[in-house]
Amino acid sequence: MFGKKKKKNESSTRAGLVVVNKPKSVISEQYRTIRTNVQFSMVDQEFKSIVITSDAPGAGKSLTSANLAATFASEDKRVLLVDADMRKPTVHNTFRVRNTDGLTTILTDRHTQLQDKIYKTSVDNLYILTSGPIPPNPAEMLSSERMDRLQEEMESLFDLVIFDTPPLTAVTDAQIMAGKTDGVIFIVRNKVAIKEQILESKQLLEMVGANVIGAVMNRIDKKEDSYYYYYGNGE
Ligand SMILES: Nc1ncnc2c1ncn2[C@@H]1O[C@H](COP(=O)(O)OP(=O)(O)OP(=O)(O)O)[C@@H](O)[C@H]1O
Ligand SMILES: [Mg+2]
Repeated sequence: MFGKKKKKNESSTRAGLVVVNKPKSVISEQYRTIRTNVQFSMVDQEFKSIVITSDAPGAGKSLTSANLAATFASEDKRVLLVDADMRKPTVHNTFRVRNTDGLTTILTDRHTQLQDKIYKTSVDNLYILTSGPIPPNPAEMLSSERMDRLQEEMESLFDLVIFDTPPLTAVTDAQIMAGKTDGVIFIVRNKVAIKEQILESKQLLEMVGANVIGAVMNRIDKKEDSYYYYYGNGE
């Protein structure tokens, strides 16, 4: 399964994947801490699907999604990373694959099968579904019944499905996905995030009954964090 699309040049598929390139770095350790915290919040219910979102653009959603997906995959969970940011997709760049088709193709062409559009990455247990061509109506596509069925299929094929999404305050896409997944991880960019936008995001998530399992403060200078500074190894 998924064998057809495996990339030949494996070493070139890891742009931005610090947990693969530098697994012993402080940053990788922080991604493992996020994974552990997510696992702690699974005491009552095992999550099958997680949305990564933020208040505003450029917070680090895509970088976090890819590294977290690889971190979960490293403990033998079969993970599917889905690029549900149809407006500004990046998963294909991170893993250096083509984005001629993907999620939007499956949603629009009823003859297209999920399994045919999934790439197996060079990271064991990590699979990706790129966004596909940018559509005029992303929110409509994500809220469709076909998307619901597709999500069910993804969750039946994988242990964990991680959705990279656009920022909450810009468009409704992430809010839609947050309402139908098991958990949301909220990324906030240190020193740039605006309090009002964070509060607005919180309200948008509450409106759809999202289960926010954690927030990640991204881009903290290691000098600001004495614990990591002390244990840091220069990565
Ligand atoms: N902790 C970090 N340290 C250094 N660079 C970072 C960090 N987090 C993100 N970046 C860089 O910031 C840029 C934006 O990150 P990313 O694409 O992950 O954000 P995003 O929230 O997905 O943005 P968008 O809203 O545009 O989808 C990228 O160039 C990424 O490499
Ligand atoms: Mg992004």
